[in-house]
Amino acid sequence: MNVVILAAGMGKRMQSALPKVLHPLAGKPLLSHVIATAHSLHAVSICVVYGHGGDQVLSSVAADDLQFALQEPQLGTGHAVAQAMPMLDDNVPTLVLYGDVPLTTTASLLRLMDVAGKDKLAILTAEMADPTGLGRIVREDDEIKRIVEQKDANEQERKITEINTGIMIAPTRPLKQWLSTLSNNNAQGEYYLTDIVARAVADGVKVVSAQPDAIWETLGVNSKVQLAELERVHQLNIARQLLEQGVTLLDPARIDVRGTLQCGRDVSIDVGCVFEGEVTLGDGVSIAAHCVIKNAHIAAGTVIKPFCHIENASVGAQSQIGPYARLRPGTELAEDVHIGNFVEIKNSQIAAHSKANHLAYVGDATIGSRVNIGAGTITCNYDGVNKSRTVIEDDAFIGSDTQLVAPVRVGKGATLGAGTTLTKDAPAGKLTVSRARQLTIDGWQRPVKIKK
Ligand code: UD1
Ligand code: CA
Repeated sequence: MNVVILAAGMGKRMQSALPKVLHPLAGKPLLSHVIATAHSLHAVSICVVYGHGGDQVLSSVAADDLQFALQEPQLGTGHAVAQAMPMLDDNVPTLVLYGDVPLTTTASLLRLMDVAGKDKLAILTAEMADPTGLGRIVREDDEIKRIVEQKDANEQERKITEINTGIMIAPTRPLKQWLSTLSNNNAQGEYYLTDIVARAVADGVKVVSAQPDAIWETLGVNSKVQLAELERVHQLNIARQLLEQGVTLLDPARIDVRGTLQCGRDVSIDVGCVFEGEVTLGDGVSIAAHCVIKNAHIAAGTVIKPFCHIENASVGAQSQIGPYARLRPGTELAEDVHIGNFVEIKNSQIAAHSKANHLAYVGDATIGSRVNIGAGTITCNYDGVNKSRTVIEDDAFIGSDTQLVAPVRVGKGATLGAGTTLTKDAPAGKLTVSRARQLTIDGWQRPVKIKK
């Protein structure tokens, strides 16, 4: 099958400089959802018809297995499909999808392909309580005869509630012929793709239909209101899938997945969490409220407490993170690591059973096992020009309010006294401390205000 994706429309009602088909749904351009659907059908060729915001559309979705046809100016859906014709394989049927209709399911399209076979024209149609604005399916004795657009329809035709979703499959060779004979002699002065239906009937080609499982599969995005509505539909679908897989969602209406979220058994996710990119949660992982987790792996049994931000990081099993922890790119935590409130970690490895429970910055560091990092510890990894590494070996104890001026190394089992500014390596097994000795001044008196 060939797939033609119509994406040339301008989307004035989005009130945006961004071309309509590039507005994100679940973190991904509308058009990319449609392209992914086309891929799921194993299309032999996929051609995107673009126009408005051309370069931006091209650079956002370009891929080796996609073809592009420029439609300039935009003279209607029939004219749009005609632009793709030179790129299509005549020997397989052509499916037309819309770049601004993101949620059509593979299952519904397979059903349409099934009824189309090799040589029928098949239209995805739907019953709409309020069909205003849409093309109506005109049948005689149950047989589809033509499609009439709202603006061209008479009073009788406007009462028809079976509508054209716009998605159709046609045998390619006759499609080319039909498109070449379209006229724009209609209410909108456009070349209507829908006019091929009457052409097919005249040529004795059978016209059939299939219906989607749900109306939202056929809804397009013309405004931010519609975009927001489809986003909710999509997120609820994802939430329902997660629930069916056994994930506990405290409220399926309050989770956002913008990518893929893979969960093991007995995972629990509280409200207000956002998952982006590729996220995997191992068995028994619990994510508390209001966490943002992007491209991360969280291993089994780990608890992420509220308000954590985790990006491009991996967390080992049985760990405890947060509340209010930030794990930045390159963070790799082994098992049973505790990262507490207001701790930021970047590009660092922390081995098993180590802890940084309060208020710390750990950047560009390699930290061994059973290390304790006290409150207020900072790795001074940046001298304004270069980044340097800090190494802390197993069983070290870093006293509170310590600065480790990298590059620097803390030996195995070493202890750093609170308030140390470490500028040279600390030897293993010893106490290292850098601070002025404590003094008590006898007989000292507080100044008092002098009376004039
Ligand atoms: C079209 C159908 C109508 C159907 C409706 C479903 C025609 C003539 N009418 O209506 O029967 O009920 O879709 O939503 O086909 N596009 C281009 N180039 C163009 C015109 C449109 O690429 O020159 C693209 C748009 O970006 C959009 C899609 O085609 O993705 C549909 O265009 P739109 O104007 O929304 O369709 P309608 O004419 O309203
Ligand atoms: Ca329109």
